[in-house]
Amino acid sequence: MAVDLAGFAPLLIKWQRQHGRHDLPWQKSLEPYPVWLSEIMLQQTQVSTVKAYYERFLSRWPRVEDLAAAELDEVMGLWSGLGYYSRARMLHRCAQAVVQEHAGVFPREMAALQKLPGIGPSTAAAIASLCFGQAVSIMDGNVRRVLTRLLAFDEDLALSSAQKNLNQHAHALLPQGRWVKSMHQYTQGLMDLGATVCHSRQPDCEQCPVRAICQGHASGAPTAFPRKTRKLVRRSQAWWLLLLRTPEGAVWLHKRPATGIWAGLYGPPVFDSEALARAVIPVAWQEKLEIPAPFVHVLTHRDLHLHPLRLTVPASSTWGDGRWFAAAEWPRLGLPTPLRRLLSE
Ligand code: ADE
Repeated sequence: MAVDLAGFAPLLIKWQRQHGRHDLPWQKSLEPYPVWLSEIMLQQTQVSTVKAYYERFLSRWPRVEDLAAAELDEVMGLWSGLGYYSRARMLHRCAQAVVQEHAGVFPREMAALQKLPGIGPSTAAAIASLCFGQAVSIMDGNVRRVLTRLLAFDEDLALSSAQKNLNQHAHALLPQGRWVKSMHQYTQGLMDLGATVCHSRQPDCEQCPVRAICQGHASGAPTAFPRKTRKLVRRSQAWWLLLLRTPEGAVWLHKRPATGIWAGLYGPPVFDSEALARAVIPVAWQEKLEIPAPFVHVLTHRDLHLHPLRLTVPASSTWGDGRWFAAAEWPRLGLPTPLRRLLSE
């Protein structure tokens, strides 16, 4: 059966106007600064979590110049809880590049946008299409799902040749003629369809505006797309965390190395076993060591088994690398989420 894929963009645009999302906080403006900020946050984090962070960032740093002039530590602190912290470092670097290299004005061209730190092809396309109405296609997880189903595209997206083919299809599907002026609605529609209808496990095909031309739907098994790729082998690692506290509520923290797990964030002393942790604790205090229940923190490529060890000690004691951070000070630091929770318990 020949399918009229030229109908895709008009159907999607009309659906977006009527049924898409229109009141997300970052939709209040078409300015590149807030759109870029939201896109970076949304790269690996859900809309529901991003909303509050986005509002906090924008009120703390209303313009790109403000963010460029901020201290990196404060940016990391406000980012705490969003995860994937290299995004926060790149965000700060990108703001500085926009100010220094582009006089504070985001460039409009895809090539120039992609040269900025932290902006890849999809984020560049989101900014170029949402803010400047350019006919370019985003390609995030949601969009991959929508398009592979629409086209019953069953190549393995772990292969770069398959990614390239899908990008070519995405390009061919872009609005043409009078629909080009609705690029904003098209891009938003792709994201909205993926997020609200074309769900990963249970797509709501009854509600789908492009069901009649969807080859995945026609195949009877839309969830077979995108084709499952080989699963990553997950590794696990165990860490014993020495949570040292003074009677006044200060905690002992150091800045973690620039590479590896939780790079550049603050953290307590970490050991590979309980015995190694105990080795740094004077005999007289061993008895006072509290051992709360261990738990697993899931990172992208590994499961981190965390074993907290708590000890209250005088502020005159020191523990190698690091220093005491007062109760009023540490909550503002860039801290990994599980540590923030442990320290406030
Ligand atoms: N995911 C990535 N960008 C988005 C946006 N602008 N709106 C909703 N979800 C998104």
